[in-house]
Amino acid sequence: MSDNLAHVNIEEKNLERTSPARKVYVETYGCQMNLADTEIVLGIMNKSGYAPTQAIDEADVVLLNTCSVREHAEDKIHQRLGTIRKQMSRRPDLVVGVLGCMAERLRSNLIERHQVDIVVGPDEYRKLPELLDGAISGERGIGVRLSRTETYDDITPFRSEGVSAWISVMRGCDKFCTFCIVPFTRGRERSRTLSGVVGEVERLVGEGFREVTLLGQNVNSYLDEGRDFADLLSAVAKVDRSLRVRFTTSHPQDLSDKLIDTIAQHDNLCKYIHLPVQSGSDRVLKAMNRTYSREHYLALVGRIRSRMPGVALSTDIIAGFPTETDEEHSETLSLMEEVKYDGAYMFKYSPREGTPAFKLGDDVPEDVKAARLNEIIALQQRVSNETNQSLVGTIAEVMVDGKSKRSELQMSGRTDTNKTVIFTAGSLRPGELVKVRIKRASSATLFGELAGASN
Ligand code: SAH
Ligand code: SF4
Ligand code: F3S
Repeated sequence: MSDNLAHVNIEEKNLERTSPARKVYVETYGCQMNLADTEIVLGIMNKSGYAPTQAIDEADVVLLNTCSVREHAEDKIHQRLGTIRKQMSRRPDLVVGVLGCMAERLRSNLIERHQVDIVVGPDEYRKLPELLDGAISGERGIGVRLSRTETYDDITPFRSEGVSAWISVMRGCDKFCTFCIVPFTRGRERSRTLSGVVGEVERLVGEGFREVTLLGQNVNSYLDEGRDFADLLSAVAKVDRSLRVRFTTSHPQDLSDKLIDTIAQHDNLCKYIHLPVQSGSDRVLKAMNRTYSREHYLALVGRIRSRMPGVALSTDIIAGFPTETDEEHSETLSLMEEVKYDGAYMFKYSPREGTPAFKLGDDVPEDVKAARLNEIIALQQRVSNETNQSLVGTIAEVMVDGKSKRSELQMSGRTDTNKTVIFTAGSLRPGELVKVRIKRASSATLFGELAGASN
Protein backbone atom coordinates (compact mmCIF):
# COMPACT_ATOMS: atom_id res chain seq x y z
CA MET A 1 0.00 0.00 0.00
CA SER A 2 1.41 3.37 -0.89
CA ASP A 3 1.24 6.54 1.15
CA ASN A 4 0.89 9.06 -1.62
CA LEU A 5 -1.33 12.04 -1.18
CA ALA A 6 -4.63 11.35 -2.80
CA HIS A 7 -7.33 13.93 -3.17
CA VAL A 8 -10.66 12.21 -3.14
CA ASN A 9 -12.59 13.21 -6.20
CA ILE A 10 -15.99 14.02 -5.03
CA GLU A 11 -18.73 15.33 -7.23
CA GLU A 12 -21.15 17.40 -5.25
CA LYS A 13 -24.41 15.56 -5.03
CA ASN A 14 -27.85 16.98 -4.33
CA LEU A 15 -28.75 16.80 -0.70
CA GLU A 16 -32.17 16.11 0.66
CA ARG A 17 -31.94 19.00 3.10
CA THR A 18 -33.41 22.29 2.13
CA SER A 19 -31.12 24.53 4.18
CA PRO A 20 -27.76 25.31 2.58
CA ALA A 21 -25.46 22.44 3.45
CA ARG A 22 -22.22 23.01 5.30
CA LYS A 23 -19.33 22.08 3.09
CA VAL A 24 -16.59 19.63 3.96
CA TYR A 25 -13.25 19.26 2.23
CA VAL A 26 -11.14 16.17 2.93
CA GLU A 27 -7.54 15.41 2.03
CA THR A 28 -6.59 11.77 2.29
CA TYR A 29 -3.08 10.47 2.95
CA GLY A 30 -1.80 6.95 3.51
CA CYS A 31 -3.04 3.62 2.29
CA GLN A 32 -6.17 2.54 0.44
CA MET A 33 -7.83 1.82 3.79
CA ASN A 34 -7.71 5.54 4.44
CA LEU A 35 -9.22 6.28 1.03
CA ALA A 36 -12.03 3.88 1.87
CA ASP A 37 -12.40 5.46 5.32
CA THR A 38 -12.72 8.92 3.81
CA GLU A 39 -15.71 7.64 1.85
CA ILE A 40 -17.18 6.25 5.08
CA VAL A 41 -16.58 9.60 6.79
CA LEU A 42 -18.30 11.42 3.93
CA GLY A 43 -21.16 8.91 4.12
CA ILE A 44 -21.62 9.70 7.81
CA MET A 45 -21.31 13.46 7.28
CA ASN A 46 -23.57 13.52 4.26
CA LYS A 47 -26.32 11.99 6.39
CA SER A 48 -26.02 14.85 8.85
CA GLY A 49 -26.26 17.49 6.18
CA TYR A 50 -22.71 18.12 4.98
CA ALA A 51 -21.90 18.35 1.29
CA PRO A 52 -18.43 17.42 0.04
CA THR A 53 -16.47 20.03 -1.86
CA GLN A 54 -13.20 19.83 -3.76
CA ALA A 55 -12.41 23.48 -3.13
CA ILE A 56 -10.76 24.15 0.19
CA ASP A 57 -11.68 27.83 -0.04
CA GLU A 58 -15.37 26.97 -0.10
CA ALA A 59 -15.20 24.62 2.85
CA ASP A 60 -16.70 25.16 6.30
CA VAL A 61 -14.87 22.10 7.58
CA VAL A 62 -11.41 20.91 6.50
CA LEU A 63 -10.39 17.38 7.46
CA LEU A 64 -7.06 15.64 6.94
CA ASN A 65 -7.23 11.85 7.02
CA THR A 66 -3.70 11.00 8.04
CA CYS A 67 -1.03 8.29 8.04
CA SER A 68 1.62 7.42 10.66
CA VAL A 69 3.38 4.57 8.93
CA ARG A 70 6.71 6.38 8.50
CA GLU A 71 8.08 9.57 9.97
CA HIS A 72 8.07 11.20 6.56
CA ALA A 73 4.31 10.60 6.22
CA GLU A 74 3.74 12.41 9.51
CA ASP A 75 6.16 15.24 8.65
CA LYS A 76 4.15 16.02 5.52
CA ILE A 77 0.99 16.36 7.55
CA HIS A 78 2.58 18.59 10.20
CA GLN A 79 3.68 20.85 7.38
CA ARG A 80 0.30 20.78 5.74
CA LEU A 81 -1.45 21.66 9.00
CA GLY A 82 0.93 24.60 9.40
CA THR A 83 0.02 25.87 5.94
CA ILE A 84 -3.69 25.38 6.47
CA ARG A 85 -3.62 27.33 9.76
CA LYS A 86 -1.80 30.20 8.09
CA GLN A 87 -4.12 30.34 5.09
CA MET A 88 -7.13 30.12 7.32
CA SER A 89 -6.19 32.76 9.84
CA ARG A 90 -8.48 35.05 7.88
CA ARG A 91 -11.35 32.61 8.46
CA PRO A 92 -11.68 32.13 12.21
CA ASP A 93 -14.97 30.24 11.81
CA LEU A 94 -13.36 27.46 9.82
CA VAL A 95 -13.26 24.08 11.57
CA VAL A 96 -10.12 21.98 11.06
CA GLY A 97 -9.91 18.34 12.04
CA VAL A 98 -7.38 15.52 11.96
CA LEU A 99 -8.61 11.98 11.33
CA GLY A 100 -6.90 8.64 10.83
CA CYS A 101 -3.75 7.08 12.18
CA MET A 102 -1.97 10.24 13.32
CA ALA A 103 -5.08 11.29 15.21
CA GLU A 104 -4.98 7.95 16.99
CA ARG A 105 -1.25 8.12 17.69
CA LEU A 106 -0.78 11.76 18.67
CA ARG A 107 -4.20 12.59 20.14
CA SER A 108 -4.30 15.84 22.11
CA ASN A 109 -0.72 16.66 21.06
CA LEU A 110 -2.20 17.62 17.71
CA ILE A 111 -4.49 20.13 19.38
CA GLU A 112 -1.59 21.59 21.34
CA ARG A 113 0.73 21.77 18.37
CA HIS A 114 -1.63 22.89 15.62
CA GLN A 115 -4.70 24.21 17.46
CA VAL A 116 -6.94 21.95 15.41
CA ASP A 117 -10.57 21.75 16.51
CA ILE A 118 -11.14 18.02 16.41
CA VAL A 119 -9.03 14.86 16.50
CA VAL A 120 -10.80 11.62 15.59
CA GLY A 121 -9.26 8.15 15.29
CA PRO A 122 -10.31 5.41 12.85
CA ASP A 123 -12.91 3.75 15.09
CA GLU A 124 -14.80 6.89 16.18
CA TYR A 125 -16.03 8.35 12.91
CA ARG A 126 -19.67 7.93 13.92
CA LYS A 127 -19.04 10.70 16.45
CA LEU A 128 -17.97 13.21 13.81
CA PRO A 129 -21.28 15.07 13.43
CA GLU A 130 -21.52 15.51 17.21
CA LEU A 131 -17.89 16.60 17.55
CA LEU A 132 -18.30 19.04 14.66
CA ASP A 133 -21.40 20.55 16.25
CA GLY A 134 -19.31 21.08 19.37
CA ALA A 135 -16.45 22.57 17.37
CA ILE A 136 -18.79 25.05 15.70
CA SER A 137 -19.71 26.35 19.13
CA GLY A 138 -16.03 26.59 20.00
CA GLU A 139 -15.44 23.31 21.82
CA ARG A 140 -12.40 21.24 20.95
CA GLY A 141 -13.24 17.55 20.56
CA ILE A 142 -11.37 14.28 20.72
CA GLY A 143 -12.53 10.75 19.84
CA VAL A 144 -9.73 8.23 19.81
CA ARG A 145 -11.08 5.12 21.47
CA LEU A 146 -10.31 1.95 19.52
CA SER A 147 -13.06 -0.62 19.19
CA ARG A 148 -13.07 -4.40 18.97
CA THR A 149 -16.27 -4.46 16.96
CA GLU A 150 -16.65 -1.32 14.81
CA THR A 151 -16.66 -2.21 11.10
CA TYR A 152 -19.04 0.48 9.75
CA ASP A 153 -20.87 -2.45 8.12
CA ASP A 154 -24.12 -0.48 7.95
CA ILE A 155 -22.65 2.80 6.64
CA THR A 156 -23.06 3.55 2.95
CA PRO A 157 -19.78 5.10 1.82
CA PHE A 158 -20.07 8.31 -0.20
CA ARG A 159 -18.16 7.42 -3.35
CA SER A 160 -17.00 9.62 -6.11
CA GLU A 161 -18.43 8.67 -9.45
CA GLY A 162 -16.30 6.18 -11.28
CA VAL A 163 -16.00 2.56 -12.18
CA SER A 164 -13.71 1.33 -9.45
CA ALA A 165 -14.64 1.10 -5.77
CA TRP A 166 -12.76 0.34 -2.55
CA ILE A 167 -14.47 -1.86 0.00
CA SER A 168 -13.00 -2.39 3.45
CA VAL A 169 -13.81 -5.94 4.46
CA MET A 170 -11.92 -5.91 7.71
CA ARG A 171 -10.24 -3.44 10.05
CA GLY A 172 -7.25 -3.50 12.35
CA CYS A 173 -4.30 -5.86 12.46
CA ASP A 174 -3.18 -8.51 14.96
CA LYS A 175 0.15 -9.32 13.35
CA PHE A 176 2.34 -6.92 15.31
CA CYS A 177 5.26 -6.85 12.92
CA THR A 178 7.88 -5.24 15.15
CA PHE A 179 8.43 -2.20 12.90
CA CYS A 180 4.79 -1.36 12.37
CA ILE A 181 2.55 1.24 14.00
CA VAL A 182 -0.67 0.01 12.36
CA PRO A 183 -1.78 -2.41 15.12
CA PHE A 184 -1.56 0.56 17.52
CA THR A 185 -3.38 3.06 15.33
CA ARG A 186 -6.01 0.71 13.94
CA GLY A 187 -6.53 -1.68 16.83
CA ARG A 188 -7.57 -5.31 16.79
CA GLU A 189 -8.51 -7.27 13.74
CA ARG A 190 -12.23 -7.58 12.99
CA SER A 191 -14.22 -8.53 9.90
CA ARG A 192 -17.36 -7.21 8.32
CA THR A 193 -20.19 -9.63 7.65
CA LEU A 194 -20.04 -11.57 4.40
CA SER A 195 -23.64 -10.63 3.64
CA GLY A 196 -22.83 -6.94 4.23
CA VAL A 197 -19.94 -7.03 1.78
CA VAL A 198 -21.86 -8.99 -0.87
CA GLY A 199 -24.83 -6.63 -0.52
CA GLU A 200 -22.54 -3.66 -1.05
CA VAL A 201 -21.01 -5.27 -4.15
CA GLU A 202 -24.51 -5.90 -5.55
CA ARG A 203 -25.42 -2.25 -5.03
CA LEU A 204 -22.19 -1.09 -6.66
CA VAL A 205 -22.79 -3.27 -9.71
CA GLY A 206 -26.28 -1.78 -9.94
CA GLU A 207 -24.73 1.70 -9.87
CA GLY A 208 -22.40 0.84 -12.75
CA PHE A 209 -19.13 0.06 -10.97
CA ARG A 210 -16.96 -2.38 -12.96
CA GLU A 211 -14.19 -3.12 -10.47
CA VAL A 212 -14.01 -3.55 -6.70
CA THR A 213 -10.97 -3.87 -4.46
CA LEU A 214 -11.52 -5.65 -1.15
CA LEU A 215 -9.31 -4.09 1.50
CA GLY A 216 -7.75 -5.03 4.80
CA GLN A 217 -4.29 -4.90 6.37
CA ASN A 218 -4.34 -8.67 6.13
CA VAL A 219 -7.34 -9.81 4.13
CA ASN A 220 -6.29 -13.44 4.45
CA SER A 221 -7.39 -13.54 8.06
CA TYR A 222 -10.93 -12.41 7.18
CA LEU A 223 -13.44 -14.49 9.15
CA ASP A 224 -17.19 -14.21 9.47
CA GLU A 225 -18.88 -17.12 11.29
CA GLY A 226 -16.59 -19.75 9.83
CA ARG A 227 -16.46 -18.20 6.37
CA ASP A 228 -12.93 -17.26 5.39
CA PHE A 229 -11.50 -14.93 2.78
CA ALA A 230 -11.68 -17.56 0.04
CA ASP A 231 -15.41 -17.93 0.75
CA LEU A 232 -15.84 -14.18 0.63
CA LEU A 233 -13.96 -13.89 -2.66
CA SER A 234 -16.06 -16.65 -4.30
CA ALA A 235 -19.25 -14.97 -3.11
CA VAL A 236 -18.13 -11.59 -4.48
CA ALA A 237 -16.91 -13.11 -7.77
CA LYS A 238 -20.36 -14.65 -8.33
CA VAL A 239 -22.23 -11.34 -7.97
CA ASP A 240 -21.33 -10.40 -11.55
CA ARG A 241 -18.98 -12.42 -13.70
CA SER A 242 -17.84 -9.34 -15.60
CA LEU A 243 -16.94 -7.38 -12.45
CA ARG A 244 -13.21 -7.27 -11.83
CA VAL A 245 -12.41 -8.20 -8.25
CA ARG A 246 -9.12 -7.22 -6.60
CA PHE A 247 -7.95 -7.47 -3.02
CA THR A 248 -5.07 -6.29 -0.85
CA THR A 249 -3.06 -6.95 1.35
CA SER A 250 -2.15 -10.63 1.68
CA HIS A 251 0.10 -11.70 4.52
CA PRO A 252 2.31 -14.59 3.35
CA GLN A 253 1.69 -16.63 6.48
CA ASP A 254 -2.07 -16.83 5.94
CA LEU A 255 -2.38 -17.30 2.19
CA SER A 256 -3.91 -20.77 2.06
CA ASP A 257 -4.02 -23.28 -0.78
CA LYS A 258 -7.80 -22.94 -0.69
CA LEU A 259 -7.38 -19.23 -1.40
CA ILE A 260 -4.95 -19.89 -4.27
CA ASP A 261 -7.44 -22.37 -5.78
CA THR A 262 -10.27 -19.89 -5.41
CA ILE A 263 -8.37 -17.13 -7.20
CA ALA A 264 -7.41 -19.58 -9.95
CA GLN A 265 -10.98 -20.84 -10.40
CA HIS A 266 -12.75 -17.55 -11.01
CA ASP A 267 -11.89 -15.64 -14.18
CA ASN A 268 -12.95 -12.33 -12.70
CA LEU A 269 -10.71 -12.61 -9.62
CA CYS A 270 -7.71 -10.64 -10.86
CA LYS A 271 -4.47 -12.57 -11.18
CA TYR A 272 -2.51 -10.10 -9.13
CA ILE A 273 -1.36 -10.66 -5.56
CA HIS A 274 0.35 -8.08 -3.37
CA LEU A 275 2.43 -10.30 -1.10
CA PRO A 276 4.79 -8.16 1.00
CA VAL A 277 7.98 -9.98 1.95
CA GLN A 278 9.80 -7.09 3.74
CA SER A 279 13.16 -8.90 3.81
CA GLY A 280 14.91 -11.90 2.27
CA SER A 281 16.86 -12.77 5.41
CA ASP A 282 15.50 -15.30 7.90
CA ARG A 283 17.17 -13.57 10.82
CA VAL A 284 15.68 -10.21 9.88
CA LEU A 285 12.26 -11.74 9.18
CA LYS A 286 12.36 -13.19 12.66
CA ALA A 287 13.37 -9.87 14.21
CA MET A 288 10.49 -8.30 12.29
CA ASN A 289 8.09 -10.95 13.66
CA ARG A 290 6.89 -11.69 10.14
CA THR A 291 6.26 -15.34 11.21
CA TYR A 292 7.43 -16.96 7.95
CA SER A 293 10.84 -17.94 6.62
CA ARG A 294 12.40 -17.23 3.25
CA GLU A 295 11.86 -20.88 2.36
CA HIS A 296 8.17 -20.77 3.27
CA TYR A 297 7.74 -17.61 1.22
CA LEU A 298 9.50 -18.98 -1.85
CA ALA A 299 7.52 -22.23 -1.65
CA LEU A 300 4.32 -20.19 -1.48
CA VAL A 301 5.34 -18.19 -4.54
CA GLY A 302 6.07 -21.51 -6.30
CA ARG A 303 2.59 -22.86 -5.48
CA ILE A 304 0.93 -19.63 -6.65
CA ARG A 305 2.86 -19.60 -9.92
CA SER A 306 2.32 -23.28 -10.70
CA ARG A 307 -1.43 -22.91 -10.15
CA MET A 308 -1.65 -19.56 -11.99
CA PRO A 309 1.05 -19.08 -14.60
CA GLY A 310 1.13 -15.45 -15.60
CA VAL A 311 0.01 -14.20 -12.18
CA ALA A 312 1.55 -10.86 -11.21
CA LEU A 313 3.14 -10.50 -7.80
CA SER A 314 4.15 -7.34 -6.00
CA THR A 315 5.78 -6.74 -2.66
CA ASP A 316 6.85 -4.30 0.05
CA ILE A 317 10.49 -4.15 1.11
CA ILE A 318 12.12 -2.37 4.03
CA ALA A 319 15.79 -1.36 3.71
CA GLY A 320 17.91 -0.92 6.81
CA PHE A 321 15.84 -2.59 9.52
CA PRO A 322 17.79 -2.27 12.81
CA THR A 323 20.80 -4.65 12.96
CA GLU A 324 20.48 -5.57 9.26
CA THR A 325 23.92 -6.44 7.88
CA ASP A 326 25.24 -6.03 4.33
CA GLU A 327 24.96 -9.76 3.89
CA GLU A 328 21.34 -9.80 5.02
CA HIS A 329 20.61 -6.96 2.64
CA SER A 330 22.12 -9.09 -0.16
CA GLU A 331 19.69 -11.85 0.76
CA THR A 332 16.84 -9.42 0.09
CA LEU A 333 18.34 -8.67 -3.32
CA SER A 334 18.73 -12.35 -4.12
CA LEU A 335 15.15 -13.07 -3.10
CA MET A 336 13.91 -10.27 -5.35
CA GLU A 337 16.02 -11.67 -8.17
CA GLU A 338 14.52 -15.10 -7.60
CA VAL A 339 10.86 -14.05 -7.34
CA LYS A 340 11.01 -11.44 -10.09
CA TYR A 341 8.23 -9.25 -8.77
CA ASP A 342 6.11 -7.27 -11.18
CA GLY A 343 6.29 -4.31 -8.84
CA ALA A 344 7.44 -3.26 -5.39
CA TYR A 345 6.91 -0.53 -2.80
CA MET A 346 10.31 0.06 -1.28
CA PHE A 347 11.02 1.99 1.91
CA LYS A 348 13.82 2.99 4.24
CA TYR A 349 13.18 1.76 7.75
CA SER A 350 11.62 4.48 9.87
CA PRO A 351 11.58 4.04 13.65
CA ARG A 352 8.08 4.35 15.15
CA GLU A 353 7.89 5.08 18.85
CA GLY A 354 5.92 2.46 20.76
CA THR A 355 6.71 -0.40 18.37
CA PRO A 356 8.97 -3.25 19.57
CA ALA A 357 11.64 -2.47 16.94
CA PHE A 358 11.96 1.07 18.29
CA LYS A 359 13.80 -0.38 21.29
CA LEU A 360 16.42 -1.88 18.97
CA GLY A 361 17.55 1.61 18.06
CA ASP A 362 18.05 2.74 14.50
CA ASP A 363 21.60 1.55 14.02
CA VAL A 364 21.91 1.33 10.25
CA PRO A 365 23.44 4.69 9.27
CA GLU A 366 21.32 6.89 7.01
CA ASP A 367 23.76 6.72 4.09
CA VAL A 368 23.90 2.93 4.29
CA LYS A 369 20.10 2.73 4.36
CA ALA A 370 19.89 5.05 1.37
CA ALA A 371 22.47 3.02 -0.57
CA ARG A 372 20.64 -0.23 0.18
CA LEU A 373 17.33 1.28 -0.86
CA ASN A 374 18.86 2.51 -4.10
CA GLU A 375 20.15 -0.97 -4.89
CA ILE A 376 16.74 -2.44 -4.18
CA ILE A 377 15.04 0.13 -6.41
CA ALA A 378 17.53 -0.33 -9.26
CA LEU A 379 17.15 -4.10 -9.16
CA GLN A 380 13.36 -3.87 -9.16
CA GLN A 381 13.40 -1.47 -12.10
CA ARG A 382 15.54 -3.82 -14.09
CA VAL A 383 13.32 -6.81 -13.30
CA SER A 384 10.08 -4.90 -14.00
CA ASN A 385 11.54 -3.72 -17.26
CA GLU A 386 12.50 -7.25 -18.29
CA THR A 387 9.05 -8.61 -17.42
CA ASN A 388 7.33 -5.80 -19.28
CA GLN A 389 9.56 -6.20 -22.37
CA SER A 390 8.53 -9.85 -22.52
CA LEU A 391 4.92 -8.66 -22.94
CA VAL A 392 5.69 -6.68 -26.10
CA GLY A 393 3.84 -8.30 -29.00
CA THR A 394 1.15 -9.84 -26.81
CA ILE A 395 -2.49 -8.79 -26.64
CA ALA A 396 -3.73 -7.69 -23.23
CA GLU A 397 -7.26 -7.30 -21.96
CA VAL A 398 -7.48 -3.80 -20.54
CA MET A 399 -10.12 -2.07 -18.49
CA VAL A 400 -10.30 1.59 -19.45
CA ASP A 401 -9.64 4.07 -16.63
CA GLY A 402 -9.97 7.22 -18.73
CA LYS A 403 -7.98 9.53 -20.92
CA SER A 404 -4.22 9.34 -20.54
CA LYS A 405 -2.73 12.23 -18.57
CA ARG A 406 -0.02 12.60 -21.20
CA SER A 407 -2.13 13.03 -24.30
CA GLU A 408 -5.75 13.70 -25.23
CA LEU A 409 -5.45 11.16 -28.03
CA GLN A 410 -4.55 8.28 -25.78
CA MET A 411 -6.43 6.27 -23.20
CA SER A 412 -5.15 4.74 -20.01
CA GLY A 413 -6.24 1.46 -18.49
CA ARG A 414 -5.08 -1.54 -16.52
CA THR A 415 -4.58 -5.21 -17.22
CA ASP A 416 -5.99 -7.93 -15.03
CA THR A 417 -2.48 -8.11 -13.56
CA ASN A 418 -2.71 -4.41 -12.63
CA LYS A 419 -0.24 -3.06 -15.16
CA THR A 420 -0.92 0.39 -16.54
CA VAL A 421 -1.40 0.47 -20.30
CA ILE A 422 -1.39 3.66 -22.38
CA PHE A 423 -2.91 3.08 -25.80
CA THR A 424 -4.10 4.84 -28.89
CA ALA A 425 -7.84 4.63 -29.37
CA GLY A 426 -10.84 6.80 -30.04
CA SER A 427 -12.80 7.88 -27.01
CA LEU A 428 -13.75 4.93 -24.82
CA ARG A 429 -15.88 4.87 -21.69
CA PRO A 430 -14.21 4.18 -18.34
CA GLY A 431 -14.94 0.59 -17.35
CA GLU A 432 -14.98 -0.73 -20.93
CA LEU A 433 -12.94 -3.86 -21.54
CA VAL A 434 -10.81 -3.77 -24.69
CA LYS A 435 -8.01 -5.75 -26.28
CA VAL A 436 -4.76 -3.86 -26.67
CA ARG A 437 -1.74 -4.94 -28.67
CA ILE A 438 1.39 -4.11 -26.67
CA LYS A 439 3.95 -2.34 -28.85
CA ARG A 440 6.53 -1.20 -26.34
CA ALA A 441 7.16 -1.09 -22.61
CA SER A 442 9.04 0.71 -19.87
CA SER A 443 9.62 -0.57 -16.33
CA ALA A 444 6.40 1.12 -15.18
CA THR A 445 4.07 1.18 -18.18
CA LEU A 446 2.98 -0.75 -21.26
CA PHE A 447 2.18 1.14 -24.49
CA GLY A 448 0.01 -0.16 -27.29
CA GLU A 449 -2.85 0.24 -29.69
CA LEU A 450 -6.43 -0.90 -29.72
CA ALA A 451 -6.82 -4.41 -31.11
CA GLY A 452 -10.59 -4.74 -30.58
CA ALA A 453 -13.34 -4.90 -28.00
CA SER A 454 -13.44 -7.76 -25.53
CA ASN A 455 -16.45 -10.05 -25.45
N1 SAH B 1 -0.60 -4.67 6.09
C1 SAH B 1 0.28 -4.50 5.07
C2 SAH B 1 1.09 -3.26 5.07
C3 SAH B 1 0.77 -2.07 5.84
S1 SAH B 1 1.97 -0.81 5.91
C4 SAH B 1 1.23 -5.65 5.10
O1 SAH B 1 1.37 -6.35 6.06
O2 SAH B 1 1.88 -5.83 4.12
C5 SAH B 1 2.66 -0.81 4.28
C6 SAH B 1 4.10 -1.07 4.24
O3 SAH B 1 4.81 -0.03 4.87
C7 SAH B 1 4.57 -2.32 4.94
O4 SAH B 1 4.39 -3.46 4.19
C8 SAH B 1 6.03 -2.03 5.17
O5 SAH B 1 6.82 -2.42 4.08
C9 SAH B 1 6.06 -0.51 5.27
N2 SAH B 1 6.31 -0.08 6.65
C10 SAH B 1 5.55 -0.27 7.73
N3 SAH B 1 6.15 0.25 8.82
C11 SAH B 1 7.32 0.77 8.42
C12 SAH B 1 8.41 1.42 9.07
N4 SAH B 1 8.39 1.61 10.39
N5 SAH B 1 9.46 1.82 8.32
C13 SAH B 1 9.48 1.62 6.98
N6 SAH B 1 8.50 0.99 6.33
C14 SAH B 1 7.44 0.56 7.02
FE1 SF4 C 1 1.76 -3.75 9.92
FE2 SF4 C 1 2.48 -6.28 9.82
FE3 SF4 C 1 -0.08 -5.65 10.28
FE4 SF4 C 1 0.97 -5.24 7.87
S1 SF4 C 1 0.70 -7.23 8.88
S2 SF4 C 1 -0.28 -3.82 9.04
S3 SF4 C 1 3.07 -4.66 8.33
S4 SF4 C 1 1.65 -5.24 11.64
FE1 F3S D 1 -0.85 4.76 7.17
FE2 F3S D 1 -2.68 4.06 8.86
FE3 F3S D 1 -2.72 3.10 6.39
S1 F3S D 1 -0.54 4.31 9.31
S2 F3S D 1 -0.56 3.03 5.89
S3 F3S D 1 -2.99 5.19 6.97
S4 F3S D 1 -3.32 2.04 8.24
